[in-house]
Amino acid sequence: MPGHEIIEKNVGLMVILVILVIAVGGLVQIVPLSFQKDVIEPVKGLKPYTALQLTGRDIYIREGCNFCHTQMIRSLRASTERYGHASVAGEFVYDRPHLWGSKRTGPDLHRVGGKYPDDWHRAHLRNPRDVVPESIMPAYPWLEKNKLDGKLIRRKMQVLRDRAKHPYTDKQIAEAPAKLKGKTEMDAVIAYLQVLGTALKSRR
Ligand code: HEC
Repeated sequence: MPGHEIIEKNVGLMVILVILVIAVGGLVQIVPLSFQKDVIEPVKGLKPYTALQLTGRDIYIREGCNFCHTQMIRSLRASTERYGHASVAGEFVYDRPHLWGSKRTGPDLHRVGGKYPDDWHRAHLRNPRDVVPESIMPAYPWLEKNKLDGKLIRRKMQVLRDRAKHPYTDKQIAEAPAKLKGKTEMDAVIAYLQVLGTALKSRR
């Protein structure tokens, strides 16, 4: 075909056309996702993080837990046998930023909620070796000593509501600092861990 010969002999044109084809292919895959219900709507029973859970989540990020732990169970049999139901998009609607990750030095934590009692987590975070002798996870003893201050929590929840449409009520935002009063960073991290992945689990 003469037209094709022109393209094959003209590298610049070929590069432009290749990029165009890839761009169209990409858009066809990506754009419909923004409108697909099961991708953008929360799974039934999913609630935005409470003041305490949200604070715990920020501490989880601050401490870099997400460098060793993923929160994304793939649909492979080896993953679902070990961790439970594969993660679905609707579970992450209130995760900003999401913490899916790709590196697992430790196990996936997406369904760790309810797996252990609070006291297990307390002992584990204080010193992982006390409950899992062969563990290489670092200890986080300061979490228990640091008290939470409620200074920023209202603002954080407001931003999530105004910018990202997390359905917090005025009452929830007003009461947020009181919910953190007297709690430690340890309480917050555990509250966060205990809710992970539970919206879907409770339907089974
Ligand atoms: C250097 C990597 C590393 C970091 C950082 C890390 N962990 Fe771990 N974590 C591990 C490893 C390895 C295990 C498996 C051994 C064990 O249970 O201690 C584990 C296990 C766990 C478990 C038990 C999971 C299960 O299903 O049994 C929880 C919960 C956990 N980590 C939470 C955290 C939290 C919260 C943080 C941050 C405060 C954190 N981890 C930081 C490596 C890490």
